[in-house]
Amino acid sequence: MIRTQVGIVGAGPAGLLLSHLLSLEGIESVIVESQSRAHIEERVRAGVLEQGTVDLLNEAGVGDRMRRQGLVHHGIELRFGRRGHRIDFQELVGRAITVYAQHEVVKDLVHARFTAGGQIFFEADSVSIHGFDGDDPRIRFRHAGEQRELACHYIAGCDGFRGICRPSVPAGALRFYEKVYPFGWLGILAEAKPASDELIYANHECGFALMSMRTPGISRLYLQCRPDEDLAEWPDSRIWEELQRRFQTAEGFRLNEGPIFQKGVTAMRSFVTEPMQYGRLFLAGDAAHIVPPTGAKGLNLAAADVRILSRALAWRFCTGSDERLRRYSEICLRRVWRAQHFSWWMTSLMHRFNQDSGFDHRRQLAELDQVTSSRAAATVLAENYTGLPFQLPGEEL
Ligand code: FAD
Ligand code: PHB
Repeated sequence: MIRTQVGIVGAGPAGLLLSHLLSLEGIESVIVESQSRAHIEERVRAGVLEQGTVDLLNEAGVGDRMRRQGLVHHGIELRFGRRGHRIDFQELVGRAITVYAQHEVVKDLVHARFTAGGQIFFEADSVSIHGFDGDDPRIRFRHAGEQRELACHYIAGCDGFRGICRPSVPAGALRFYEKVYPFGWLGILAEAKPASDELIYANHECGFALMSMRTPGISRLYLQCRPDEDLAEWPDSRIWEELQRRFQTAEGFRLNEGPIFQKGVTAMRSFVTEPMQYGRLFLAGDAAHIVPPTGAKGLNLAAADVRILSRALAWRFCTGSDERLRRYSEICLRRVWRAQHFSWWMTSLMHRFNQDSGFDHRRQLAELDQVTSSRAAATVLAENYTGLPFQLPGEEL
């Protein structure tokens, strides 16, 4: 039997950052993760960090590599009707975003946990949670062939959308709000110099495409596809042809092509759990909510959740009062729904919808025209994309 103050399921950004923030508050935690360390440190996911996330990582002392290797961007391009239109974040809202891969954040956090003597059980099997509706929460799992039990005061369910924590709550205790989109993203990583210094979001009759990057020599590109798209039907030549088509401009823009070394398809959904807590179980990050990636909000929301949770737990262990823990869900959900709205809006603005008679596409072009010609409309986009302040009114924890 192992004892700790907070038992955390999942070593994604939410679980790792929570564990790190708790340790800075002098609170012990143990993480139980089903995958190997190599797997989580290589898993290709998000790339865009809001200013608030960057500040949080810096303040928590895990921002050294991000400051050296992250690419600071002061705007994005919206491309439609074969023309590019820049949204200047710096000028509109005085904020920037940082492009730094999620698995690099994960590496920095794992390193920080081990340096501080933190405990992470990787490759844990048959993970289950118990007793969180009373005052004796437990996490059971198998590790290296042995059955283990972790006794803790609280459990943080940071195990992503397909984890076990959310489904362990008794039926009927939580409410779920969901929207599934009729498309997905085919994403690639290629050894090719990004053709632009900033991200390009393209709305094209054939479907959405996004040009992002990881380093000055590696492009990260996405194109809208079917949610169940078969990668076998997408040889590299077809991917490049389709990407070139969707990014083309009147001036003859070309993406730089190069060897593709990673390919994947992601389905798209919006999903919210209410409340994000049950008894002594607190859900954070993708375990509680999912956004379509168009607004680049998922990782940032996970960071915002665990910032609130770590403070509420610190208050509980320091004063004995669980008043802040009781407000956890309510505080997080306000930001979550704002991000849901923005992600849905960006998704609806940029993607081709099935059975479009042409009306939807023309409506999108009219809206894009407004977003790129009205300062007020551009400011709304810039404000949301770069991220809401990390402390919304009422979030004073
Ligand atoms: P996860 O990263 O999913 O971590 C959960 C962890 O729990 C995993 O390590 C998993 O192995 C573990 N786990 C699962 N089940 C169990 C179990 N039973 N027992 C123990 N451990 C378990 N977000 C952005 O902010 N910006 C972006 O640019 C962006 N782009 C994206 C692009 C793509 C293609 C995708 C797929 C996502 C993108 N996101 C983006 C979303 C972002 O990646 C997620 O929101 C983020 O990973 C959430 O972190 P998390 O820690 O909550 O969950
Ligand atoms: C990425 O770089 O992976 C990325 C960037 C912006 C998004 C989604 C993903 O909206």
